[in-house]
Amino acid sequence: TAPELLRNFCIIAHIDHGKSTLADRMLQLTGVVDARAMRAQYLDRMDIERERGITIKSQAVRMPWAVPDETGSLQPYALNMIDTPGHVDFTYEVSRSLAACEGAVLLVDAAQGIEAQTLANLYLALENDLQVIPVLNKIDLPAAQPEKYADELARLVGGDPADVLKVSGKTGVGVEELLDRIVELVPAPVGDADAPARAMIFDSVYDTYRGVVTYVRVVDGNLNPRERIAMMSTKATHELLEIGVISPEPVPTKGLGVGEVGYLITGVKDVRQSKVGDTVTNSAKPAAEALGGYSDPKPMVFSGLYPIDGSDYPVLRDALDKLKLNDAALNYEPETSVALGFGFRVGFLGLLHLEIVRERLEREFDLDLISTAPNVVYDVVMEDRTEVHVTNPSEFPGGKIREVREPIVKATILAPAEFIGAIMELCQTKRGDLQGMDYLSEDRVEMRYTLPLAEIVFDFFDQLKSRTRGYASLDYEPTGEQVADLVKVDILLQGEQVDAFSAIAHKDKAYAYGVMMTAKLKDLIPRQQFEVPIQAAIGSRVIARETIRAIRKDVLAKCYGGDISRKRKLLEKQKEGKKRMKTIGRVDVPQEAFIAALSSD
Ligand code: GTP
Repeated sequence: TAPELLRNFCIIAHIDHGKSTLADRMLQLTGVVDARAMRAQYLDRMDIERERGITIKSQAVRMPWAVPDETGSLQPYALNMIDTPGHVDFTYEVSRSLAACEGAVLLVDAAQGIEAQTLANLYLALENDLQVIPVLNKIDLPAAQPEKYADELARLVGGDPADVLKVSGKTGVGVEELLDRIVELVPAPVGDADAPARAMIFDSVYDTYRGVVTYVRVVDGNLNPRERIAMMSTKATHELLEIGVISPEPVPTKGLGVGEVGYLITGVKDVRQSKVGDTVTNSAKPAAEALGGYSDPKPMVFSGLYPIDGSDYPVLRDALDKLKLNDAALNYEPETSVALGFGFRVGFLGLLHLEIVRERLEREFDLDLISTAPNVVYDVVMEDRTEVHVTNPSEFPGGKIREVREPIVKATILAPAEFIGAIMELCQTKRGDLQGMDYLSEDRVEMRYTLPLAEIVFDFFDQLKSRTRGYASLDYEPTGEQVADLVKVDILLQGEQVDAFSAIAHKDKAYAYGVMMTAKLKDLIPRQQFEVPIQAAIGSRVIARETIRAIRKDVLAKCYGGDISRKRKLLEKQKEGKKRMKTIGRVDVPQEAFIAALSSD
């Protein structure tokens, strides 16, 4: 298709504002999917996505849409709709998808108004010079307030409230008009058809049968089947086995030209060889310069993952190897823990990413896993100025420390004005720093904070929701590091450190952690033949202590004079029980106790 007849756009929205539902309706109205084959959220292919109702991986679909020109003759346009992930963990993928488009439909729920991710996505779209089309969705809802929010939206993007389209992805009202508006307002792609090929990778997914399927947007030149292509960041070359468009299933084509969006198959088996953000060129006639903006996804949150049954360790290793084929952001290293045995230290983009990976491991590979409390990455500068990069709290260095740096985020919170006090109070307890505050309308504020990432990754969002009765929304992005007063708290059983429970905490919160953890372990660890102290310590300074009192656990005591077979049975039973015991110092602890202590909050 000639570039003049192409329109590349994406739909951006706050979570649950109806992006997938609208995309479904567009597929149906353009005839790409017929009503009978339609299933909700057609584009969210992974089961997990459909169940959770969230979009994790972007997809691109080509839809035909004819619009009359001035003379009245129908022009056959091709619209490429690029679906973007909606969650903060996947901001990098969102920004690459946006870079593949010329326009963005900014979708806002007509019963909710603008939310934090509406803003975050709008800013990303503007940074990418996209034509933004503001649209109110769900106008069929009785609670919809289209007039009020059309004003809010027009004020945000500029323009007249009367120009804000009002649609319902559910009933289809206004969607045809929206498709016409996309043709009218989104600029046609421009590029140099005669230049060496340059295409940007905005997604790559692993398919069991076909290997890696790479989604690209051609900027200059063209890509053709059987050519050798090169990845500009790694210089690796591959033969192009198949090239095509998705509509809505893959359809091979003779090639892709300027402005076109489609997929490539090279037989590569690992998504890391086909990285989001990288530029594809022709290996015989390579482009001189890559398209800008490639960066490796950086893990922000780490957690130890251990099989509950130690003999599952090889299964876990294979499972991680397999998941990695489809998830370039996943990385892991083997790790051993005294309390939990053999496992892995795994890096994630954020908490949602962690949850998804864990759920997939458990579901697709039938594993029972325990994960240690997630932590962020700390940089510790020693007195002699050497630096230690800490991804596991138990590896926090001893000795003379000059300073400890932790990652911070720029957070945007949107909420009704009545909750300003509650939000300030919460952010204060989370060591937040107010950067600014604006009223979006009389009763809605935008508050900007910098906050330590470590304070956000636990229960921040839940607390924000509960303190604002669900009305606040949150978005955040990493913005560097800050020096903070951080210490390592160790948990000791009879003087021996229990590695899985070490935590890095702010000085003011270390005591609370110590008290909580020692109390919990006291309840969970069975009494031994001797007294066992449980201590929380910072270095050599004990900050909390509990004691498990001794019992006389002589299993043979009650059998004096009894028959010998009963004695043997008891001894065997005791041996059986010992198998799953972990010995810390002289203390025998059932592994279940550690697992319970880690999972109950
Ligand atoms: P993510 O993919 O997670 O970002 O969510 P989304 O923006 O794709 O939202 P989705 O399409 O999953 O819709 C969220 C909820 O709103 C679902 O329960 C939909 O049924 C409902 N919904 C979507 N569009 C409409 C609409 O036009 N009217 C009504 N009444 N409900 C809608």
